[in-house]
Amino acid sequence: MPGPLRVQWKVYVLEKYVIKGGIELHGEVEISGAKNAAVAIIPAALLVDGVCRIENIPQISDTDMLLTILSELGAKVSFINLSTIEIDCTKVHFQDAPYELMRKIRASYYLIGSMLGRFGSARTTMPGGCNFGVRPIDMHIKGMTAMGAEVNVKNGFVNAAAADGRLHGARIYLDKVSVGATMNIMMAATLAQGRTIIENAAREPHIVDLANFLNSMGADVRGAGTDTIKINGVDKLHGGSYTIIPDQIEAGTYMVAAAATGGEVLVKNVIPKHLECISAKLRETGTIVQEYEDAVLVKGASTLRRVNIKTLPYPGFPTDMQPQMGTLLCLASGTSVITEGIYDNRFKYVNELRKMGAEIQVDGRIAIIEGGTGLTGAPVQACDLRAGAAMVIAGMCASGTTVIEDIHYIERGYENFVGKLKNLGADITIVNFPDEPDGNDKILTLF
Ligand code: UD1
Repeated sequence: MPGPLRVQWKVYVLEKYVIKGGIELHGEVEISGAKNAAVAIIPAALLVDGVCRIENIPQISDTDMLLTILSELGAKVSFINLSTIEIDCTKVHFQDAPYELMRKIRASYYLIGSMLGRFGSARTTMPGGCNFGVRPIDMHIKGMTAMGAEVNVKNGFVNAAAADGRLHGARIYLDKVSVGATMNIMMAATLAQGRTIIENAAREPHIVDLANFLNSMGADVRGAGTDTIKINGVDKLHGGSYTIIPDQIEAGTYMVAAAATGGEVLVKNVIPKHLECISAKLRETGTIVQEYEDAVLVKGASTLRRVNIKTLPYPGFPTDMQPQMGTLLCLASGTSVITEGIYDNRFKYVNELRKMGAEIQVDGRIAIIEGGTGLTGAPVQACDLRAGAAMVIAGMCASGTTVIEDIHYIERGYENFVGKLKNLGADITIVNFPDEPDGNDKILTLF
């Protein structure tokens, strides 16, 4: 509905998913805009002196929060329809970013780059988000410092200021391939004086999407999608219109769900090239994946084969698909090995799968899955966003009923997850604590 920003947050903490398992998924699902692109592009709108129209914004709580943060900084945010917004940052002025909202999400770190670019200084909190072990932002800070900012982190707050009011270009080598540092430095460099070169940059599809967004508003960013990105700073960005790419991980989650339940699902509005790493692994399990121009058809195999997986930066297998694939491999005959190549602690969901009968041993960053024993419904928790999606897949494959708590994590990143799954035939409902039926959800209206 058109009109100014009105954010409604459900009190998800009181809700659970109840899933009756053993049903194959069949039908078609439409993929929404990419979360990890949207959560960068919304803060990047702060760099633009004019109106940005952004289409294909996913309706998830992470984007709601970032839009609220921007409006608290003085931006005018209007919904044209449910997935199209206009952001006008011409009247924003420097102030502290709203701490309570900032510390709830990981992507709030992009405010450091966009505020430094726009105002020459930034005051934010350290970011929140899913807990996969230590998630430092030292490379973001290294990049901003190289561009002439003085940055200090004290008591959970980040203070940054460009020495002469404007950042300058620099050559920055990232010690580790980092999505967040690459995008944050790219944003800050857009309005810096001179040329910035990011070496050992991340190459994820959302990096290219952010560069395309910035370029469509007048920036000069080259090489996004390779490991060297060159940004020639400009004095000003102008308004414009941009459409966000489809979500690689949302698409991959439905692909795995189709394969795990043994169903047949056409996953629509995708860029098949972005899904190649997931499609290739699914094919190894015996699943059929057919690619079309902007869709993939996934047909589950009668028997799933074991595979080994190592998560890596793009174009490797994404860490954000690891819990979903780990769940699928519980159903494959034989022993599968998953090596987590990005995070120290991304196997917390394994404890939840064990409650459902899974046989998995974890040693540091390696999980060994003895598959083929089947899963049984149980009360489990969504430990984080993708772990929560994995629990939903497990529940749909298990015999009996699964109840998932802490679903607010899942709602951070999946638009209309329950509605889309129901449409594919899943028996999933949202139940309020302690057992009120679907439809009685409590709504907290903030604006
Ligand atoms: C982003 C994604 C997240 C995904 C991850 C890896 C968003 C909002 N989140 O997270 O969904 O799982 O990419 O694809 O886009 N690191 C450092 N110092 C830094 C930055 C990162 O040591 O300054 C380390 C991290 O701890 C991690 C690795 O580098 O081990 C990669 O992290 P990074 O790519 O930065 O992940 P995020 O941007 O936080």
